[in-house]
Amino acid sequence: MIKMKKPVAISLNGQVESKLLKKSVKKYADLKNFFEIIDEGISDDTIMYEVDMVSKENCDMQYAITTIHPILVNGQCNMTQGHFHGDENHGEIYQGISGKGALLLVDKEGNTTIEEVFPGSVHLLEGCIGHRTVNTSDEKELKIGCYWSKHTKGYNRQAMLDCPFTINIYLEDGKEKLKQNV
Ligand SMILES: [Fe+2]
Repeated sequence: MIKMKKPVAISLNGQVESKLLKKSVKKYADLKNFFEIIDEGISDDTIMYEVDMVSKENCDMQYAITTIHPILVNGQCNMTQGHFHGDENHGEIYQGISGKGALLLVDKEGNTTIEEVFPGSVHLLEGCIGHRTVNTSDEKELKIGCYWSKHTKGYNRQAMLDCPFTINIYLEDGKEKLKQNV
């Protein structure tokens, strides 16, 4: 008798269930230097975002859902650290799941562009573009799915220092405000 196998993971409502699940968290202590002004009112132990990742041996593709909590740092919207890929020939696909937010994208000339993120939005990222996800709500968490290859070879942190994002996103009176770095 032929039996169907279970999928390697189930992702419902932004929750990933899998035997292969690897969870990681970023706390405020890891992230506070990426915000314009450090907010002393936020505890270093505060979880800013979480990544639930599923990866399998001998499969070059990986899947993750990132949950970015609705936290303001002196009014600045919570966000991921951001990175360039170790190998810039390999891009990535993002898909908005729930909440609202933005993808900050920076090229090697320092030009930053922004894409709106919402449930169902799909984002094709070229490998040579630095990227960061921002939760632009102070009420709801932002969940975003991600598909990428192991050939991206991790993160190029130096490129991120050389080509930083030139726009930060704040929330003022419940509305997003984009501010150019000075
Ligand atoms: Fe990436």
